[in-house]
Amino acid sequence: MILSSHLSYRVLAAQEAQTLAISNKAKRLKKQGLDIVSLSVGEPDFDTPECAKQAALHAISQNFTHYTESDGIMELREAVANKFINDNDIKSVRQSTILISGGAKQCIYNVLNAICNEGDEVLIFAPYWVSYPAMVALTGATPIIIQASFEQVYKVTPLQLQAHLTINTKCVILNSPSNPTGIMYTEQEIRDLAAVLQDHDCFIISDEIYEKISFGDIKHFSPGAIESIAHRVITVNGVSKAYAMTGWRIGYMNAPEHVFKEASKVQGQSTSHPCSIAQKAALGALIGGDYDVENMRKAFSFRKQLVCDLLSTIPGIRFHIPDGAFYVFIELGSILADTGIEDDALFCSYLLDRFLLALVPGSAFGNPNSIRISFAASEQTLQKGILRLAEGISSLQNQKNV
Ligand SMILES: Cc1ncc(COP(=O)(O)O)c(C=O)c1O
Repeated sequence: MILSSHLSYRVLAAQEAQTLAISNKAKRLKKQGLDIVSLSVGEPDFDTPECAKQAALHAISQNFTHYTESDGIMELREAVANKFINDNDIKSVRQSTILISGGAKQCIYNVLNAICNEGDEVLIFAPYWVSYPAMVALTGATPIIIQASFEQVYKVTPLQLQAHLTINTKCVILNSPSNPTGIMYTEQEIRDLAAVLQDHDCFIISDEIYEKISFGDIKHFSPGAIESIAHRVITVNGVSKAYAMTGWRIGYMNAPEHVFKEASKVQGQSTSHPCSIAQKAALGALIGGDYDVENMRKAFSFRKQLVCDLLSTIPGIRFHIPDGAFYVFIELGSILADTGIEDDALFCSYLLDRFLLALVPGSAFGNPNSIRISFAASEQTLQKGILRLAEGISSLQNQKNV
């Protein structure tokens, strides 16, 4: 018998993605016929734009169904390079340093494997996207969490960043707009963080997957546009969220040449390249999808307002209005402590079991005593879901008062 002690200690130590576990359980219960409302998903509920679908169909009819270059097809790398130059003002971009991968997730995984050694530290800002700490730990490096509180609008300050830099800091991961908070850093805030990193020889991974989904006055800004640090910035993006193409699995990144070479090696020796047809679909989206992106953005903006209005009527919770992405991150205040529920994970189990509502606990994102609501759902579903949340909270409070 092979004991678990014989398995990889790095993989054994890694956490399973809690977000996937919850949405899988919700799907299972739905299949059993229960009227589940799931506001746990991290993907747009819109259809993939027609231009992307047509490009994929054309690729199939043209038998574009064999291996491609392992870094991705030339036309797509060219389109991505132009996107980074035109949209993000990243001047150092070359088509030759663009890597196309199976989602932004694989881009980040490739890069972390390309740059990290045991003993290295990678700074992650909490609340964080669930996969960052696990991916860092899988490389043998150590994730170092910098906690940004509700009071500081979930944004890490330059002073906090400075305090966590050590001789072992290999990399800092930035994510704006953020999953799970929807908060965006302003250009000035990013410049202030960059100023701290200016004299510290480390990489910066900028995860910009939600770039196209923003609502307010804050304009998306890429740290790769700051010339003094551009040679150390890896910019990651993809078509999943902007073009409602999560299942196609296409992400892309720009990296300094020496990092690109090693990340390309990791990909070439593991998955070779992403699906040939999906690469053509992504190219179709980048060329012709702007109109669809804007329509989806407007719909998300409307839903954001609806969700925030409904949530603001629930006593005992607080939240910041998101600047982007499609999440609201809710602080539960004293609700759990007052009603004897041990933690936010148990609170989410209670909501799912008793009120058929699936949400993700904040602890999955390194921020306990919170929950994340995804508003990538229809207005009717959102209304129903938030009503159930309100009922779940009030039922707890009533039990307490009996
Ligand atoms: C912050 C963040 N980065 C990266 C990803 C991965 O995106 P992709 O589908 O392109 O792998 C996600 C997906 O949820 C995300 O929320």
